[in-house]
Amino acid sequence: MAGNTKFVLLFLLLSSSSPCFGIEQDIRCLKSVQGSLADPGGVLRSWDFENETNGFICRFTGVECWHPDENKILSLRLGNLGLEGQFPVALQNCSSLTGLDLSNNNFLGPIPQDISWVMPYLTSLDLSYNSFSGSIPHNISNMTYLNVLNLQHNQLSGQIPPQFTLLTRLIGFNVADNLLSGPIPSSLQNFSASNFAGNQGLCGAPLDDCPPSRRRWRPVRISMHRLNDQSSIGVAVGFVVGFVVAFYFPHLFVCSERLRAYVVRI
Ligand SMILES: *[C@@H]1O[C@H](CO)[C@@H](O)[C@H](O)[C@H]1NC(C)=O
Ligand SMILES: *[C@@H]1O[C@H](CO)[C@@H](O)[C@H](O)[C@H]1NC(C)=O
Ligand SMILES: *[C@@H]1O[C@H](CO)[C@@H](O)[C@H](O)[C@H]1NC(C)=O
Ligand SMILES: *[C@@H]1O[C@H](CO)[C@@H](O)[C@H](O)[C@H]1NC(C)=O
Ligand SMILES: *[C@@H]1O[C@H](CO)[C@@H](O)[C@H](O)[C@H]1NC(C)=O
Repeated sequence: MAGNTKFVLLFLLLSSSSPCFGIEQDIRCLKSVQGSLADPGGVLRSWDFENETNGFICRFTGVECWHPDENKILSLRLGNLGLEGQFPVALQNCSSLTGLDLSNNNFLGPIPQDISWVMPYLTSLDLSYNSFSGSIPHNISNMTYLNVLNLQHNQLSGQIPPQFTLLTRLIGFNVADNLLSGPIPSSLQNFSASNFAGNQGLCGAPLDDCPPSRRRWRPVRISMHRLNDQSSIGVAVGFVVGFVVAFYFPHLFVCSERLRAYVVRI
């Protein structure tokens, strides 16, 4: 018995799959993603979890694995499938995910404020052509491997986080057609103007210069004097939602140190 346990532990170490973030975890991850989304086109319903052979999930629509015979997900390409729902936070359990494409669906609600904890190793994130709203999480600046960030054509508001200067590997960045305002971080000024177009309040290179007064970018200060105004209620609700989201997730990530160790090994 003890010998068996040792063997199992050794195997888990060798395969770099800790009990927290093993291959089973990716299967469970997909199951909860499937369960958390409305799928009028029935595409995700074709994901059949009955026949658990090695690499069976790798043949599901939209699923790409690190190795075809291993249930470990490299990327999820779920663009243009008519999916509906909130950002699928169950993805936190697809621990080796490097690419996520949810573009051209009917997702709504906020992008998780702690998204860097949900998917720390993404190189490509495409949330374009949905109805995501709220602010762009400055937490994205902690996703240091990001090469491509596509957020165009949503209802995102507020500023582009100044911390995005930390995303030094970006070769693709698009926030066109949102409700963004404020200055464009200087590190992003070499992207084409069309990648910022369709936002009322964005300014600075590659768009027009920002107005000299900084007051224009501080709607919160103005609304403080008008507490009965609907917009200030909106700001307050957004604030509370932000807090709830930020406090809801951390306890789900007790294994993140193991995950870090794992990724260092690949
Ligand atoms: C499970 O999948 C394998 C490989 O696709 C197939 O050969 C086998 O017949 C399937 N078993 C069942 C019970 O569906
Ligand atoms: C991740 O997996 C764990 C263990 O199966 C589960 O308890 C947790 O709820 C999952 N997280 C999410 C966000 O689904
Ligand atoms: C992102 O969220 C995590 C967890 O909440 C936090 O530890 C980290 O500092 C945040 N990063 C940024 C840039 O806000
Ligand atoms: C997240 O980014 C902040 C700076 O915005 C940095 O201080 C912190 O160490 C980063 N955390 C991780 C886990 O990378
Ligand atoms: C933008 O491009 C110019 C000319 O190619 C280059 O000198 C500059 O360093 C670039 N700026 C940034 C922030 O990448």
